Amino acid sequence: MSKRIRLHGLRQSTVGHTAVGLWRHPDSRAHEYRELAHWTEVARILERGTFDALFIADALGPLDTYRGSVDAALRDGVQTPTDDPLLTLSAMAAATEHLGFAVTVSTTYEQPYSFARKMATLDHLTHGRVGWNIVTSALDSAARNLGYDNQLPHDERYAVAEEFMEVVYKLWEGSWRDDAVVRSVEEGVFVDPSRVRPVRHEGKYYKVRDIALSEPSAQRTPVLYQAGTSPAGIAFASRHAEGVFLSTYETAGARGLVTKVKEAARAAGRDPDSLKFLPITTVVVAETDAEARAKYASYASYASWEGALARWSALMQIDLSVLDPDAPLEYVDTDGIRGMVELFTTLDPTRKWTPRAIGEFVGVGGGGPVLVGSPATVADELERWMDEADVDGFNVADPVAPAGHRDFVDLVVPELRRRGRVWSAYEGATLRERFTGSPRVRPDHPAYGHRWVP
Ligand SMILES: Cc1cc2nc3c(=O)[nH]c(=O)nc-3n(C[C@H](O)[C@H](O)[C@H](O)COP(=O)(O)O)c2cc1C
Repeated sequence: MSKRIRLHGLRQSTVGHTAVGLWRHPDSRAHEYRELAHWTEVARILERGTFDALFIADALGPLDTYRGSVDAALRDGVQTPTDDPLLTLSAMAAATEHLGFAVTVSTTYEQPYSFARKMATLDHLTHGRVGWNIVTSALDSAARNLGYDNQLPHDERYAVAEEFMEVVYKLWEGSWRDDAVVRSVEEGVFVDPSRVRPVRHEGKYYKVRDIALSEPSAQRTPVLYQAGTSPAGIAFASRHAEGVFLSTYETAGARGLVTKVKEAARAAGRDPDSLKFLPITTVVVAETDAEARAKYASYASYASWEGALARWSALMQIDLSVLDPDAPLEYVDTDGIRGMVELFTTLDPTRKWTPRAIGEFVGVGGGGPVLVGSPATVADELERWMDEADVDGFNVADPVAPAGHRDFVDLVVPELRRRGRVWSAYEGATLRERFTGSPRVRPDHPAYGHRWVP
């Protein structure tokens, strides 16, 4: 039997995320990102399509690499302005019953103790529907506004992240026994103190001495996602990720990354098939291929070349404005997202990318494939990606929010259901159960060893 296609919806709380400039399209209501009604509408749309989760990207600094200025990003609303991804979750959870929420939070700028409580709170309020996209961040501007002169070097950020994970696993899995909250009115005891213990963590980057503040939540550790594909990123994903978010525009490159991460996971003692891979994908669908092509042309006519270059300059931490627009980009180890630099240099040896070609290519699809066509055409393409790239599903972006997600749910999901590739109704109680088939972290995951089992 063909494996189920796992669907996540991808957004950032901003107007210019994967598709830059398309906020000007008459069908786009992306500017409503400041409204709770917008987010509850998006959540209900995705739940109607039995998506596993809404995935919310984030960045903690303005995009100021291109021409050394924030002006191009501001003009096109490229990830600037952007709001906090966590604060919409309670409202979306109240408007839905099953949809999960995978939120991006940086290990470089959070404190694990307070962060563990935030996620436990969200896991309580959503009844086990929360996931975490673990990022180490990539913008120097974030560092400059959060207490540093410059960002920590790339690989050191992953070293910090490694210790961060150890601390939060201790807090989520090891500080409170499952039966710690007794709530005995007769004995006058809410929590049995013998079932709660301090984590006593003292490491290179963090000191956390006491007990976790939150009582155990349904999932304990939120479902863990990761997206970096540099060597350090792959090593990190192979140890911690349950979901891996990819950015590649063709199946061979995606398959190469899937194979590398799975091999690293096997070497780290994990079942490689327990990691689920989700490439970022943009779908432009209509009743017929011709109508879909016309819709794509109308989207593409609003794409902003300069805005796209401003975004990719920041992601890669390479100012593309100072390079020859027609000279091929060469790989360099930057302090930005190295996986994104690889995407346009080494990942596909058959192709040379110039800054001009990058700006034109990423306009609608943001570095992932753009699938255009009727529901049957799109479903064929999604199935081809599943087979050729060996992925487990898709992180479906929305170029004209929320119309892109609505089109996908109204047109593509029924076709995928007819083919038996997506659920008609949700199964499982929590995000982890739905996404991984297991209610708690699996025994081969590093969080498991921190569990306190009497
Ligand atoms: C597809 C994809 C999406 C990403 N989304 C985010 C994001 O929303 N926020 C963020 O700070 N970093 C994001 N990153 C960056 C990384 O997750 C990572 O923490 C990092 O910056 C280094 O990546 P690298 O290992 O490829 O160098 C993303 C990376 C990829 C490949």
